[in-house]
Amino acid sequence: MMERPVIFLEGKKVILRPLNKHTDAEKLQRWINDPEVRHNLVMIFPQTLKNEEDFIDRGGDAAKGVVLGMVLKETGELIGTMALHEIDWPNRNASTGAMIGEKKYWGKGYGTDAKMLLLDYAFNTLNLHTVSSTAFAFNKRSIRYSIHCGYKVEGVQRSRLFRSGRYWDRVHLGVSKREWLPIWRRYKETGSVR
Ligand SMILES: CC(C)(COP(=O)(O)OP(=O)(O)OC[C@H]1O[C@@H](n2cnc3c(N)ncnc32)[C@H](O)[C@@H]1OP(=O)(O)O)[C@@H](O)C(=O)NCCC(=O)NCCS
Repeated sequence: MMERPVIFLEGKKVILRPLNKHTDAEKLQRWINDPEVRHNLVMIFPQTLKNEEDFIDRGGDAAKGVVLGMVLKETGELIGTMALHEIDWPNRNASTGAMIGEKKYWGKGYGTDAKMLLLDYAFNTLNLHTVSSTAFAFNKRSIRYSIHCGYKVEGVQRSRLFRSGRYWDRVHLGVSKREWLPIWRRYKETGSVR
């Protein structure tokens, strides 16, 4: 029988919960070092287990950021992380970062569900005004799921990031609470953002 899970935020497909450094750090370390996952992330250096344990510890410092594990509702499997970084309290902005480390779960709507939960927390609990995100121009999946959640492209830094032997544009996206609320209503009513 599945143990009763820790629930911080509950969506249609996933649960977001605090990470546990004793049981989750090894998975995080495997994911972030995986070339196919790392290809999409700003972090390019090898990460030790200690790095991941420290990352989980810092996730507990709610004044700076909020780091949560993404768990499948059906099975309780931890498949990734979803976080709010760089919370800027005076301007009520923060940036988001997501990683589904189990690659077989990419493109199945879990990221969109998790991002909507995080935005609900950011806007309706923390009372943020805008939320931002950046992605490499080649990361169409990341750009697409952000746009599903109401983000708009706010700008493009040209040739800003070097990856796979060449420079790529960096896409800046952002969403305000006002833009996101109608999508949230639709998501709650129909279970879909569209
Ligand atoms: C980015 C990420 C969190 C998105 O979560 P996800 O669960 O895979 O995304 P979803 O399935 O909710 O949505 C993806 C959307 O992009 C579409 N998509 C999938 N692959 C795509 C591709 N190669 N090109 C364009 N669109 C693509 C999906 O079809 C879906 O759109 P749709 O609903 O219109 O069909 C996840 O893929 C991930 O962790 N990737 C690796 C790490 C990463 O890129 N992190 C973000 C760094 S900015």
